[in-house]
Order: sequence, then structure tokens, then C-alpha cells
Amino acid sequence: MRILVIGGGGREHALVWKLAQSKGVSAIFCAPGNPGMAPLAQCVNLGVEDHEALAAFAKENDIDLTVVGPEGPLVAGIVDFFAAKGLRAFGPSQAAARLEGSKQFAKEIMAKYGIPTADFAVFTDAEAAKEYVRKNGAPIVVKADGLAAGKGVVVAMSEAEAIAAIDDMLCQGRFGSAGNRVVLEEFMQGEEASLLAFADGETVVPMVAAQDHKRIFDGDQGPNTGGMGAYAPAPVATESILKQTLETVLQPMVKAMAAEGCPYKGVLYAGLMITEKGPRVVEFNARFGDPETQVVLPLLESDLVEIMLACIDGTLAKTEVKWKQSSTVCVVMAAGGYPESYRKGDVIRGLAEAAEAGTVVFHAGTGLSADGEIVTAGGRVLGVTASGDDIAGAVAAAYKGVACISFEGVQYRKDIAYRALARR
Ligand code: AMP
Ligand code: GLY
Repeated sequence: MRILVIGGGGREHALVWKLAQSKGVSAIFCAPGNPGMAPLAQCVNLGVEDHEALAAFAKENDIDLTVVGPEGPLVAGIVDFFAAKGLRAFGPSQAAARLEGSKQFAKEIMAKYGIPTADFAVFTDAEAAKEYVRKNGAPIVVKADGLAAGKGVVVAMSEAEAIAAIDDMLCQGRFGSAGNRVVLEEFMQGEEASLLAFADGETVVPMVAAQDHKRIFDGDQGPNTGGMGAYAPAPVATESILKQTLETVLQPMVKAMAAEGCPYKGVLYAGLMITEKGPRVVEFNARFGDPETQVVLPLLESDLVEIMLACIDGTLAKTEVKWKQSSTVCVVMAAGGYPESYRKGDVIRGLAEAAEAGTVVFHAGTGLSADGEIVTAGGRVLGVTASGDDIAGAVAAAYKGVACISFEGVQYRKDIAYRALARR
């Protein structure tokens, strides 16, 4: 079995790492990949949006399975494009990926099928949107409809802040066409969790619940980022919450998408707010999460290739999806300045020592210098990952690895998994 992974971040490194453990895998390629994967996968210098070139590569290299990491190509229809050429790709079709590509689409499906989420209204007219804010008051959440690299959401604590966000998106064109339409949402109170699931169009099988840390600083302070760390399992997702999420969110959504004529195959990612009234959906994503993947896949005992093929073939109900009883923590080491403009090209030291200390270091934004040293090349640089018998053990092990690694300007959170630790 020859595999192509599309993407080049920490999520894709974790995918490559897990896929390499599957029986019968003879070669893994990653486009564009990153230097951290080099021992496991051959990096291919192609962009994730270049569907034509990626499909040609897959044909020429006898790729049996392509795994699509990021949302961009999914929303742009890469899985349909591959299928039309007789190539098997793991991920939702373009029509199904609208669950992530359009917040309006996602909200309307949820409303139609009674899936619990925040009340909402959709606007293209700024005056009408502002009127809605004045009527409903703050806190209120303003979201750009389309893909905005995770930055198109403003949780406004005052009416003025909400109105400024509406001006930004609808009048100033802050997010381009992704912000030509805004969704205004009720503010939900609670603790967040990410529950990812495998889906084959009909059957849906949840993974282990994870919790991401979106803010840059300890104690969830400062601006939002792509994610500064994660852990799994997340104890906020109790047995009862997991059962409710499966029955009120995941199963109804997979049924809904089939009924709408766009069966959902791939990873269905439910971003949840665990409220007093139970789990409610913050957002759906059409892919693995980053950095959730880095903590969820190490807990998967079963063969990932078999599961992915079952999702494509519609045989997930007959496929084993088993999880380990341990816990995993990932601490993201980011470049100085991130999430604003950040440093690049700094030499990273201590990677071998971190591996010796028992951590798996997933590369996210790394590159090679002219003399072959591994250097920083992105905002989120590394995800230092470790497992343990429980969360506390995994936290201690992950920070042991972090302590080995240094680069100029490095920043990381020292409190990953603090919510889980506080529950004990
Ligand atoms: P999203 O991109 O939709 O996941 O939103 C980014 C972040 O904004 C989420 O992870 C939440 O922390 C927050 N958020 C989004 N929608 C809501 C909401 N309706 N109520 C409270 N917080 C929200
Ligand atoms: N960790 C958030 C995401 O992948 O969207």
C-alpha cells in the first residue's frame, strides 16, 4: 500500500507517524511535508491547492490512498477531483465539506435537523446586522461565513465590539469574500472540547475527546492561535456527555448529510461547548484537528489505513476502532512573535535529546537551512508529545521533552491540560 498525505504541518506529521505503523504500508509521500517527517515519508514539493499536479503525482507513483489534511483542498473539492480520476482519497466531498466551508450551511443544517447549537442569524447587510446586535445585546459572537484560517470569529463582550467586527467584515472586507456574509450567534458559556469521529456516509465512530488551548498565553489569555497544545482524553467529556454527543450531534449530522444528498465520509470534527444544558456545537470541521490529531492518534490502537479505507468503502460498521487506556499531551513550541508576525530561520537545538527523553516531536513549521540544520519556518514550530498512564504523567513527560529543546524567541504554554489537572 502506497500512501500520499497532503499537507505539511503537525497534524500531517502525526498522520504520517500513525500511517507508518499500519500493516502493509510500503511507502509514504507527503506534499509538501516537512523535515520532521523525513525518516518516515518522502516529501514532495507540491502545493496543497494544486489538485492537478497532486493527482498526476498519485497516478505516476501508484498511490493507493491519499489522505487530505487541511480544509482548503477539501472545500475546493479535491476528493471529488481524485475520485473522478479513479484515485481513492480520504476526506469529505466538496458538497459535504461545506459543513466547514460555510458557517451558514452548517448552522442551517443544524437548525433543520434539531442539532443543539447557538441561536443564530445570517446577514449580508451591515445595518441589519447591527440592528440585531442592538436588539440582542452582548456578549454576542460575530463570525465570517467562509474560511478565514481560524481568525474569522470575534467573541464580542460589548455591543461596540460586535459592531466594530461587523464593520470590519461587511464594510472593510477584512476577510475578503469569506466575510461578505456574517453569522451572528448567541454566546455559549461552558468548557470546550473537540470530539472527532470517523464517518463512512452512514456509520459514525467517535474518537477519544480532546481539548485544545487556543489562546497564546497561560490561563487562556491573549489572542487566539491555531492551537498551543492539546490533551486527550478530555475529562470534561464524561461518559454521559459522550453518549449525548453521539446521539444528538454526530449520528443526526451524518444522517442529515445523507438525507441532503451529500453523505459525509472522512473525519467529522465537532467543536463542542459543554454547557449546563449538555453539549452544543460551536463549529464543525471537515478534517482532523491540529493539534488534536497529535494527541488522539497516539491513542488509536487499531490500524488507521484499515479505518480510512472502511470510511471510503462504507464498511466502517464492520471495522475495529480500538483505543488505548492511556493519556496523551502535546505542547506546542511557537516562534517568537506568533500569532502576529514572527521570527523565522532560527536553528532548533535539542531534538535528539527530546526523543531520547521519550517524547515524539511532531514538526509543524520547520525547514532546512542551507547547511542542513533544522530551523524554524512557521508560527507553530513543534508539537512535543508524550503519553502516560494518566494526564498528569503525560504532562510531566511532555514537558521533559520541551526542556530539551531551544531556539531563539521560543514561546510555549506551561499550563497545557490545566483544566484536566484541576478536576482531580
Ligand atoms: P470557531 O472558529 O467557530 O471554532 O470559533 C473560535 C472560538 O470562538 C471557539 O473555539 C470558541 O472559543 C469561540 N466561540 C465560537 N462560537 C462561540 C459561541 N457561540 N459562544 C461562545 N464562544 C464561541
Ligand atoms: N484545533 C482547532 C482546529 O483544528 O480547527
